[in-house]
Amino acid sequence: MNKKFYITTPIYYVNDIPHIGHAYTTVAADVIARYHRNLEEDIFFLTGTDEHGAKVAEAAKKAGKEPKEFCNEVSLRFKKTWEKLNISNDYFFRTTDERHGKIVQEILQKIYDRGLIKKGIYEGLYCVGCEKFLTENDLINGCCPLHPNQKPIQQKEENYFFKLSEFKEKLKKAIKDRNDPNHYEILPKSRENEILGKLELGLNDVSISREGVDWGIPLPWDKKQTFYVWIDALLNYYTATRFLENKEKFWPADLHLVGRDILWFHTIIWPALLLAAGLPLPKKIFAHGFFTINGKKISKSLGNVILPDDLIKKFGIDGTRYLILSEFSFGADGDISIKKFETRYNADLANGLGNLVARVAKLCEKAKIEVKNANHSSHFSKEVNKFLTEFKFDQALNFIWSKISEADHYLDQNKPWLLSGKKLNEILDDLIGKIKEIAIHLQPFLPETAKKIQKQFQCPKIKSESPLFPRLV
Ligand code: MSP
Repeated sequence: MNKKFYITTPIYYVNDIPHIGHAYTTVAADVIARYHRNLEEDIFFLTGTDEHGAKVAEAAKKAGKEPKEFCNEVSLRFKKTWEKLNISNDYFFRTTDERHGKIVQEILQKIYDRGLIKKGIYEGLYCVGCEKFLTENDLINGCCPLHPNQKPIQQKEENYFFKLSEFKEKLKKAIKDRNDPNHYEILPKSRENEILGKLELGLNDVSISREGVDWGIPLPWDKKQTFYVWIDALLNYYTATRFLENKEKFWPADLHLVGRDILWFHTIIWPALLLAAGLPLPKKIFAHGFFTINGKKISKSLGNVILPDDLIKKFGIDGTRYLILSEFSFGADGDISIKKFETRYNADLANGLGNLVARVAKLCEKAKIEVKNANHSSHFSKEVNKFLTEFKFDQALNFIWSKISEADHYLDQNKPWLLSGKKLNEILDDLIGKIKEIAIHLQPFLPETAKKIQKQFQCPKIKSESPLFPRLV
């Protein structure tokens, strides 16, 4: 039986439309999923939308729509954008799916029956933008740092609380002790240290229900309340493996990819809920960095969003995928701009990869060579394997691009345009081998380009084709 590999992205809020930040996680997850598929593992790749809660209900109201109708529209927009970006998810999850709601109720009922949920009064600040409770210490100029234009609301209501505080030692052990049956890894390591440091300060019980929010899943034991949107959302990773056919074997997830903003939810609250329900914990949680534009957070309210649809129009599907992943190391934050993307597109894609492929194809066409299709390697190099298993996308791409430079250099040194006969065939055959190897490595990153190159350099005759990446002027 093939090894299984289950990878997830966060499920995205439908109050916003898909932007480059959402695309970052999704493209990265797609590269990992494709890489593992190439290794002939049995893959389950899940993404989707988070549709309940006050924030979404407010956005629907603003748009003059019923919440469900509004969710259908925005969710479809995410789905279509991922299709355009050639994302190979096996399923697109929606939290408004009734099958999900039913399982959420069953699991929380179980936790309730185990005495791990209690009633209490929540009094404090709440940021609707984050769908998160805040303390005075979290505020900057009286506002949540992530939503400087939106004042947190003062909330006092009767809620149900999950006894998170009871899980501190268990979680600490599960993170630190590789031999613990519940062991899970938090990556990059610096993030693990951050989480452990915060955990050391102690855990408060967390409110898991809302009194005044109708747009949510009702609590089975108290129908006047709905589950706090995060509780419903986190469970998506598990419920999908229960209500979809033949997916049971995929739990626990092998990798949750998330942005650093939601790491606490994924590394503390989520594992604690699973422990409380007696379910296995995910294996790894990786937090990537954040894109900013001119140093500012990307957000609809700041009006500085870059949309994947616009990037695709300008740079093509594979161009967009490349630009999103090549700019920074995956764990780090970085500032992006269209200008930087244009420069990189022309340098690496139009001039680098595109030019090499076009030059070699033209020489082959002119020489009318019959390619021997010699034993070119069809495996990933150990370097790229290593980089991909460590989520170092930029370094994997650097390595592949160093192979493009090497091939360029080989071409310029051997000057096949001055050669003929056996020598010419030999040099071209070498170059074809190099290009095919590059194409193999490009597969998870630029799937269509890899396919095009493989097709173009198929025997018996190689021909020039239109440029892979037309130069931007
Ligand atoms: N709905 C929750 C997640 C629930 S998962 C059980 C949520 N949704 S979100 O729409 O706000 O998406 C957050 C995720 O989008 C981040 O964790 C990150 O993966 C991605 N990004 C959103 N903006 C981003 C940047 N500016 N830069 C990089 N990634 C960002 O939180």
